[in-house]
Amino acid sequence: MNRNSRQVFDVGRIRQETGIRHVEYHAQLASTNATAVELAGLLLDVAPALVLTGRQTAGRGRGANAWWSTTGALTFSLLIDGESTGLPREQRGMISLAAGAAVRDVLDALLGTCTAMIKWPNDVYVDQRKICGILTEQTTRQTRSAIIIGIGINVNNSLADAPGEIREAATSLFDVTGASFDLSALLIDVANQLDYRISQLVHRDAALIRDINSWSLLSDRFVTISAGPEIHAGRCEGIDGDGCLLLRNASGAVTKHLSGIVQQWK
Ligand code: BTN
Repeated sequence: MNRNSRQVFDVGRIRQETGIRHVEYHAQLASTNATAVELAGLLLDVAPALVLTGRQTAGRGRGANAWWSTTGALTFSLLIDGESTGLPREQRGMISLAAGAAVRDVLDALLGTCTAMIKWPNDVYVDQRKICGILTEQTTRQTRSAIIIGIGINVNNSLADAPGEIREAATSLFDVTGASFDLSALLIDVANQLDYRISQLVHRDAALIRDINSWSLLSDRFVTISAGPEIHAGRCEGIDGDGCLLLRNASGAVTKHLSGIVQQWK
């Protein structure tokens, strides 16, 4: 079987085997996050709702970044209702981390000898290369708020087809294992694990942060992050209960960072 031949989604099965109430499937989309934002007013009525595509042509990344993908990758956005999820506003910044934990669990179970790691604040890595990126966005319609969790996982696509700088920095399940995977089954597992990790967040279950710290790529590394115009560097001492990255700087003080872009780690 060709590695990209399992790209057709079983939408009925996805609805049956997850808590997702509506699947908005398009063979091709520019960005599932952009479509979820555009349709948020309608999708809030049927949330949790999934925007899914077989091929994303202009995926959005964090900041000004783009997300490269081809057929065989899993690219989707889950729209949840901010109010009915029961997630306090101050916890919402941690959704990407919770989603990273969910994806990590699922990928790790498929990987055999390799280990999937969470890279604060919103990536999953295997073999020091990025395999999944997460972009969480919020939008409001009248009094309602929609949380859009956009997830891109390199599955049956190969990074051999990617532009140079991405090829060096990223990987896929196919590239790591040489096997191809059922995208519907993978999506179902991620959606259910995401449900579990978000409920841990809602209930402030300490096990969520404990698990994130167990699989934190940056811990014990010397990390440099940028936060707007500021640069912070230090040895990473993990992630605290609010999802902040803890860095011990040169003078021995620990600084807490709720957000930022990791520039390097070694
Ligand atoms: C990042 O690493 O900067 C985040 C990448 C997020 C990519 C996913 S793919 C599905 C969803 N739709 C988008 O346009 N982006 C996210």
